[in-house]
Amino acid sequence: MSAVELNARPSADFDVKLAETQALLQRAAAEFGPDITQASSLGAEDVVITHLINALQLDTPIFVLETGALHAQTLALLDRTLSTSRAPVTVYKPVQEAVVQFVAREGKDAMYRSIELRKACCGIRKMAPLARALEGKRAWITGLRREQSSARAEVPLQDNSESRVKFNPLANWTWGEVWHYIGRNQVDYNALHDEFFPSIGCEPCTRAISLGEDFRAGRWWWEDEAAKECGLHVKALRQAQGERAIA
Ligand code: ADX
Ligand code: SF4
Repeated sequence: MSAVELNARPSADFDVKLAETQALLQRAAAEFGPDITQASSLGAEDVVITHLINALQLDTPIFVLETGALHAQTLALLDRTLSTSRAPVTVYKPVQEAVVQFVAREGKDAMYRSIELRKACCGIRKMAPLARALEGKRAWITGLRREQSSARAEVPLQDNSESRVKFNPLANWTWGEVWHYIGRNQVDYNALHDEFFPSIGCEPCTRAISLGEDFRAGRWWWEDEAAKECGLHVKALRQAQGERAIA
């Protein structure tokens, strides 16, 4: 059974929600032009947003953090996206020297040994390239959804709490709606979704989930629930939960 057959579930108000999402993306593109960018992990939510950007001919630039530890299926989708997207797609990679030194010093399985080492790996492979991807940008677009985890339950459609505006256009979409959109529009998606990977990150840190497990159970599964963010969205999420981030 494909991920579309398994997951697609339109809701009664889907078309209204879709129109609101399209309007949000149009407004964001009109306000920020080339100074806004979509962060795409090539997961289901992100391929929906990229599809919307292209269908609306917004030309909003898209970037992918290619950590050097992605699955072959994700890299294959990246190649297809680079050749089919109307909007420009830029790939950001970690500084090779930093990766080589980290792996030589700590080993290739360092992320399993401690949260500090896992965060150090994310720092080199994701956070440093993210800083380059967002340089000069006044706003960005992510695929965060409220349903994904309790830490994300309050994610707003537009987050003005940091100096760079963050749009989460699918914040109120359900997983069923994401797949309804993919099925209805025949959006190309990551083959891992057909193998029970709902949430996809780097290969060493992502596994398939079993029936009944949480959406993000396959991400950093050896860590406590509270630690399971790579840093990309942590400050905004803490603020959404009412805690003050230490600036
Ligand atoms: S993470 O913090 O746990 O890695 P998750 O995989 O749920 O995040 O993705 C949330 C959003 O972060 C995605 O919808 C996307 O906007 C952004 N994102 C995550 N990984 C990447 C990546 N490798 N490249 C670009 N954007 C990413
Ligand atoms: Fe490293 Fe895993 Fe973070 Fe990827 S998700 S950067 S492999 S620790």
